[in-house]
Amino acid sequence: MFDVLKIREDFSILGRQVNGKPLVYLDNGASAQKPQVVIDAINTAYAEEYANVHRGLHLLSSIATEKYEGVRAKIARFLNAASEDNIILNSGTTEGINMVSYAWAAPRMQAGDEIVLSIMEHHANIVPWHFLRERLGVVIKWVDVDAKGDLDPEAVIAAIGPKTKLVAVTHMSNVLGTVVDVKTICAGAHAKGVPVLVDGSQSTVHMPVDVTDIGADFYAITGHKLYGPSGSGAIYVAADRMTEMRPFMGGGDMIREVTRDTVTYNDAPMKFEAGTPGIVQTIGLGVALDYMMDVGMGAIAAHEADLCRYARGRLDGLNWVNVQGQSATKGAIFSFTIDGAAHAHDISTVLDKKGVAVRAGTHCAMPLMDHMGVGATCRASFGMYNTTDEVDVLIDALELCHDLFA
Ligand code: ALA
Repeated sequence: MFDVLKIREDFSILGRQVNGKPLVYLDNGASAQKPQVVIDAINTAYAEEYANVHRGLHLLSSIATEKYEGVRAKIARFLNAASEDNIILNSGTTEGINMVSYAWAAPRMQAGDEIVLSIMEHHANIVPWHFLRERLGVVIKWVDVDAKGDLDPEAVIAAIGPKTKLVAVTHMSNVLGTVVDVKTICAGAHAKGVPVLVDGSQSTVHMPVDVTDIGADFYAITGHKLYGPSGSGAIYVAADRMTEMRPFMGGGDMIREVTRDTVTYNDAPMKFEAGTPGIVQTIGLGVALDYMMDVGMGAIAAHEADLCRYARGRLDGLNWVNVQGQSATKGAIFSFTIDGAAHAHDISTVLDKKGVAVRAGTHCAMPLMDHMGVGATCRASFGMYNTTDEVDVLIDALELCHDLFA
């Protein structure tokens, strides 16, 4: 039984005050707070069980290795991947997508080849492809969202031509909250022989995700949004794609043997994990995923759907608030401007004075902001521990902004 008040007790930071007001943390899209079990696990890992992984025969190294390696299977379970061998551990989505750009896409692309992107991608799913545009002459083909912020999967599939080598698309917009039908995109792209990379940074926080059912070739996740430590994350890579990748970075665990003249590599997925990894961060991520799976991804999704409905209703009641994106699939992420108001940064500053933490700016999504014709927005993004009472605090604070600025 989902009990939001009980969940809140696990996040001690939610009990603090900000500017003399109870904290209302609505910046989960940027980074989520951590439950005590994650903080405790980090503490234990450093205080009692720390050593490097895969390198020592001593007890501490064995404990650290076992805990670290155990996270691969947890991520596989979280994403319903066929095997833990499909999971490359890394520092988060940005590293994961950059790895695909360097290790998979670059070696098989040449001038004139195309990558299809949606206009609502985060910069981390744009700039790695700009690198290929700059270095190789690859062409980026953009697919726009409609006025409601929906991405038509058929428009993405229609954009795939004979020179398209990859489709890279978000599963859930970090600005609009739109959930994209990536399963249909994968099926259509595969029918044309084109792999699909899915950015799962936001989606995995809010709903159950099944990469096997979706049929993604690459699916990137990031730990700090999943109630885990920053600097943790992973990318799921389908077996066929994994065999097509060349190593990304050299050093450490990706090596089997090095001589003066040769090098042979470890088996995948470790072949793609160079250097000493984020040991404690990854262990913390494993605990965060256990926490989420214990709460239940279906229960989290249902709670957030209620929050989303309530927040939408309250925001719709303010005809001077302009919420960007009105998709039927919208999750609990609201970017907005206020009629006649000052810059989003000013709104965010007033909200902060009321204890409400939101993000303001262009949200690492400048092409989308340009498409929507807005310079900057405020964004209230919800997590499993938020409540409808907190929505009311947000609304009161927005009314104050309206009084001050309009
Ligand atoms: N990607 C994060 C956000 O959307 C930082 O805020």
